[in-house]
Amino acid sequence: MAKKNIKRIAVLTSGGDAPGMNAAVRAVVRASVFNSIECFAVYKGFQGLINNEVKLINARGVNNIINRGGTVLKSARCMEFKSKNGRLKAFNNLKAKKIDALIIIGGDGSFTGGMIFQSEFNFPVLGIPGTIDNDIFGTSHAIGYDTALNTVVDAIDKIRDTAISHNRLFFVEVMGRDAGHIALNTGIGAGAEEILIPEENMGIQRLLQSLKNSEKSGKSSSIVVVAEGDKTGDNVFELASYVEKNMPHYEVKVSVLGHMQRGGKPSCFDRVLASRMGVFAVETLLLGKSNLMVGIDHDKLILSPLKTAVKSKSEINKDLIRISDILST
Ligand code: F6P
Repeated sequence: MAKKNIKRIAVLTSGGDAPGMNAAVRAVVRASVFNSIECFAVYKGFQGLINNEVKLINARGVNNIINRGGTVLKSARCMEFKSKNGRLKAFNNLKAKKIDALIIIGGDGSFTGGMIFQSEFNFPVLGIPGTIDNDIFGTSHAIGYDTALNTVVDAIDKIRDTAISHNRLFFVEVMGRDAGHIALNTGIGAGAEEILIPEENMGIQRLLQSLKNSEKSGKSSSIVVVAEGDKTGDNVFELASYVEKNMPHYEVKVSVLGHMQRGGKPSCFDRVLASRMGVFAVETLLLGKSNLMVGIDHDKLILSPLKTAVKSKSEINKDLIRISDILST
């Protein structure tokens, strides 16, 4: 599609919210205005597209949101968009407003919807990765990941204070869906004794042995970071009670950090990343390119097909496992 064909762009946030989504919305809106394009905000993700909750937004409409967590556009996980009929309603709403392209800020589920939408209606779609899980292929960082890492490290630091005071062993469950990025990085950042991730099952016996070794080496308290998708035990509570049975002299506690990991002010890194990605997304559409996801690699903005972003998995850095093993001795 040539530059002259893009006159109106719509933007939405979808899936789990992530800190920095607002900064990305702001960047999309302001880059549109800068390029004399009308920008439409879609509220409540794909559901809002289906329900026609689509409003023209100007540069002042995104004042004072760069520093705010969550998403001012709201988000939703939408079942109706999975049906052809739902997508048709969304298309008709966009067409009625003469909107030429759609920017989706979200994760791989949202991009799958976007990809189907583009192929069904030949409607230009562009993805901006926003998820704390950082599980999207085609970018080293998704918006929100850095903030979540800092939030989790801060929480574990606090847990460590009480763990030391009571000589306790803490299992801290962190988010990440099926990916271990948050667990692996915060485990190292917070100095955990062990890190359990879905990508590498260490087995319960090795975990026990490692905790016993830690104790023998003089540690009187320990932190084990467990990714929510880890399969070492049926769940973190079952895992903790198994360890308690085998190390009865240890007081074992579980802390599930939960949704606090998704909230809070975005870090400077996420604000800058979101700002760059938002501007780049608009510029990419203006060049007539679509069906792509914006990403970052070694500080360079890149593009990859939405299909790749959805089908492939972002790998964990295996060297971090080795680093953690060395440092937890
Ligand atoms: O994808 C982000 C995430 O927070 C995951 O880490 C977690 O598994 C999931 O969303 C929780 O989803 P919900 O907000 O629907 O409970």
